[in-house]
Amino acid sequence: MARIAVTDGMAEDAVAMLEEAGHEVVTAHIPESELLSGGLSDFSAIIIRSATKLTQEVIAANSHLQVIGRAGVGVDNIDISAATNFGIMVVNAPRASTNSVVELTIAHLLACVRKVSASDRGLRAGKWEKKLMQGTELNGKILGLIGFGRIAQGVASVAKGLGMRVMAYDPYVPAKIAREHGVRLLSRVDDIFSNCTHISIHCNLTEETYHLVNSERIAMMPGRSPNGIICGNHIINCARGGIVDEEDAFSALESGNLSSLALDVFEHEPVSPDHPLLAHHAFHGTPHIGAATLEAQRRVGLDIAAEIITALEGRLPSNLLNSDFNK
Ligand code: MLT
Repeated sequence: MARIAVTDGMAEDAVAMLEEAGHEVVTAHIPESELLSGGLSDFSAIIIRSATKLTQEVIAANSHLQVIGRAGVGVDNIDISAATNFGIMVVNAPRASTNSVVELTIAHLLACVRKVSASDRGLRAGKWEKKLMQGTELNGKILGLIGFGRIAQGVASVAKGLGMRVMAYDPYVPAKIAREHGVRLLSRVDDIFSNCTHISIHCNLTEETYHLVNSERIAMMPGRSPNGIICGNHIINCARGGIVDEEDAFSALESGNLSSLALDVFEHEPVSPDHPLLAHHAFHGTPHIGAATLEAQRRVGLDIAAEIITALEGRLPSNLLNSDFNK
């Protein structure tokens, strides 16, 4: 039997699964100061979401851990190479939230072009701005996807159902995969910006992708669809904060180079209430809720519980993220 700390919450079914496997689960947020002073000394495993940051220092202070579970996809809050150096396995649940993130991306895309948030804000302020709230259709427009993993592939299939043409940039995905999805794979990220009026981000945050969406690239967007409709330019990010340069995006909204921007993720979360974007009429956002559905959270929890059980039994989990793991 092992003790498992769950610091950012987890579905009840998943906690029950770990307990049925004979483990003790302690669900409580542990502040960074406690993590740094060996606050996990009684635990063999920790399961986190995005709030807990497992930096090199935190991992070094808890180097006895056997396994770290990320109940979700993104692992930018875990220093995986530090974990590998201490022989700690790191696992995630990469598939469980795909559908939920696809649906939120499409919700933001539609909300952008039909000005759903601005219309709602106007209504609540007692305004009936029917003319001002004229939008454009997605049908006949070109959607550019930056990153073409599972989520982007799901977005592509819904977007095609809505009559969009889809292009993607992903240096790690073979052209054959894109062809199978009826998507044109471009070899340069700049070509996404120069061809697409609608862009959705689906890549990881890395040194390469930090501020990938910036003033210069937004200025390349055509603002006009292939059939001549002046539809403006629209950007959605439900992937990771920091990929969109928020200051540049604000300036592009001001200059009109960008007609709308929707973010579910921000460079600094939780986002500050006086962030300039929050006051812009052409911006709308959500507080990092891509995976926040009942269904996704249940699947995420069960997947990560299964991975943790496997790891604690001394077997190799299927979503092991350490390269060259030896223990
Ligand atoms: C993920 O990486 O799984 C999502 O961004 C959701 C989350 O961080 O909780």
